[in-house]
Amino acid sequence: MNARKVKRLTIHPSGPLTGTITVPGDKSITHRAIIFGAMATGTSTVEGYLPSEDCRATIAAFRRLGVEITTHRRTLTIRSAGWRAFSGPDQVIDCGNSGTTSRLLMGLLSGMPFRSSLTGDDSLRRRPMRRVAGPLATMGADVRLNQGEYLPAVIEGQPLKGIDYASPVASAQIKTCLLLAGITARGTTRVTEPSLSRDHTERMLPAFGVELTRDGLSVAVEGGQSLTPADVVVPGDISSAAFPIVAATLVPGSEITLTNVGANPTRAGILEILTRMGANITRVNEREAGGEPVADLIVRHAPLKGVEIEPEQVPAAIDEFPILFAAAALAEGDTRVTGAGELRVKESDRIAAMARELARVGVNVEELPDGLVVRGPSIVKGAACEAYGDHRLAMSMAVLGMVADSHLTVEADPIATSFPGFADLFSTLGATIEKGG
Ligand code: S3P
Repeated sequence: MNARKVKRLTIHPSGPLTGTITVPGDKSITHRAIIFGAMATGTSTVEGYLPSEDCRATIAAFRRLGVEITTHRRTLTIRSAGWRAFSGPDQVIDCGNSGTTSRLLMGLLSGMPFRSSLTGDDSLRRRPMRRVAGPLATMGADVRLNQGEYLPAVIEGQPLKGIDYASPVASAQIKTCLLLAGITARGTTRVTEPSLSRDHTERMLPAFGVELTRDGLSVAVEGGQSLTPADVVVPGDISSAAFPIVAATLVPGSEITLTNVGANPTRAGILEILTRMGANITRVNEREAGGEPVADLIVRHAPLKGVEIEPEQVPAAIDEFPILFAAAALAEGDTRVTGAGELRVKESDRIAAMARELARVGVNVEELPDGLVVRGPSIVKGAACEAYGDHRLAMSMAVLGMVADSHLTVEADPIATSFPGFADLFSTLGATIEKGG
């Protein structure tokens, strides 16, 4: 039973945001728990999984491969005969909007003894896939991409051999894709990154009985390993928490608490950058849950100042730049981000799209080939904003609506990609968001 889809949100200027919330489960961790659980022989569970459209695409994909996945309240149960028992899918696997689903599956399916095909929505069919298909080909994979770059992809499963791959980009999708292919391959597969991308795969695979060797920026796996089942507990998604964190920082008089937020250092760049900008964020109750660092966060309104964000700081905040750019609009002085060219190949071109939407609401921005300069502080004007089908664009502009001089509207549909219940959760904090616009 899907709730009726809402086409636009109308966000009204907000009074202080107050209260305690828990954001939905982490998207990256949920994808991995589903994939590794499906690869394992036996019954695995995923507690606190993210029931978003992206994760549903991963669940649907493994059902097509013959894995039984059931949901009960906040927990997924995965029953599988293991990755060697996957059956060839009888239909094209639709990855929807999800880059993680498509790239991780491409790696895993390359080593299967059957043919499979992957596709996705308009946005995903424009995103680069050679970054994974290229190294997979050197493992012996036969992946045919549309125009040599895009989905749809046809994968003729092959016996693979391990490789030693130095990735030109810090990308957890490339890294995980190759490690999954490596598990099905002969010999050792080693991936080395220019800087460390999110390391959820390296943290979670050992819980499923996989031996990995980590050495600085390299990680290696031996082929032919079977996975044993595991029970994964998913923390709240820091990439979703970023929206209430910035909203409470920007709206005067706010004080909110976010419980159970994933605080993995390879993901928590947003907290460091915002703190450097002057945000008042306190981590309490720091602990480890399911192999991942977790904390509760108390966020109080604070005036921000512009900062320089260096290329080395980009990977740990890669998904948070739309909302960081929004925060920078209210900061005193320039915020300059460089070395972030990867933003151009996300769910939208997040540099061009944010430059355009920020300009629409009266913010002074300068687009760079690999980043953005936001010159604050601005008086944000209410406007009808576009999201280019990108969930994080929609939510970033919605947060700016809370500090605009009049109401702001934005496309609502993309938000279900990663943050079901976004508007309702903000309403519990005191924001005024109408569904419809
Ligand atoms: C993800 C990795 C990142 C990130 C994406 C999720 C993952 O992509 O932007 O939202 O779960 O591995 P890249 O690997 O392309 O950097």
